[in-house]
Amino acid sequence: MKTKVFDNLNDLNEDFTLWLKELLAEKEDLSIALSGGNTPRTLFRYLATNHADDIDWSKIKFFWSDERCVWPTDDDSNYKMAKESLFDHVAVSEKNIFRIRGENDAYKEARSYQELLQNELETVNGVPQFDVLMLGMGEDGHTASIFPHEMNLWDSHNMCVVATHPKTRQMRISLSGQTINAAKNVVFLVTGAPKDKIVKAIIEDNENAQEKYPAARVQPNSGNLTWYLDSYAGRELTQKK
Ligand code: 6PG
Repeated sequence: MKTKVFDNLNDLNEDFTLWLKELLAEKEDLSIALSGGNTPRTLFRYLATNHADDIDWSKIKFFWSDERCVWPTDDDSNYKMAKESLFDHVAVSEKNIFRIRGENDAYKEARSYQELLQNELETVNGVPQFDVLMLGMGEDGHTASIFPHEMNLWDSHNMCVVATHPKTRQMRISLSGQTINAAKNVVFLVTGAPKDKIVKAIIEDNENAQEKYPAARVQPNSGNLTWYLDSYAGRELTQKK
């Protein structure tokens, strides 16, 4: 596991971009599962502003780690956020955008997205394998849309599960733990002070983190896990004892 703490989001976004470009240079095409929420929006805008022309966007197949059960035009949609902050500004290939259809029946869509992943991606022991899987982490230690009150979903035999937000009760479709941990490269992008203590507990594997926080269960079989943190989310790691 690698941990990178950055003084500002610009440096974080540039470092991630350079890593992605190196990976892309080695491959004919690349599959990436995007995370949702606010943090990735700054990265997507950074990519659209600074790297529209020096990345071959047509080589990238876009998927999602999770999606809210809303229409793609809804402000809550992770797809809509990615479309407005990135896809509308770079030359992605429409046929390479595989959104989770949050407007459909959640249980049916979880099944059909699992089938889509198995058709579009290489599989390892039947589990779809992403080249890159992006994750965020909530202030309660959730990741993708696996929340602490539904930790059982992490261990689902299904590749995609139906979850509910603990406060809003909004239904979500999420990759399950086995699909997340099957990815060749998993990258956490976590920013903001309220997450600092959970970040520390997870990275240092203390305070029973693995029992409490879904994000602590992210342990890719490949061993390739990198935490990209801003100085606030990473401040507990860097503070002198
Ligand atoms: C989602 C995300 C979720 C997100 C965290 C952090 O659909 O909301 O996938 O797991 O990454 O909630 O969100 P912020 O970046 O907005 O703090």
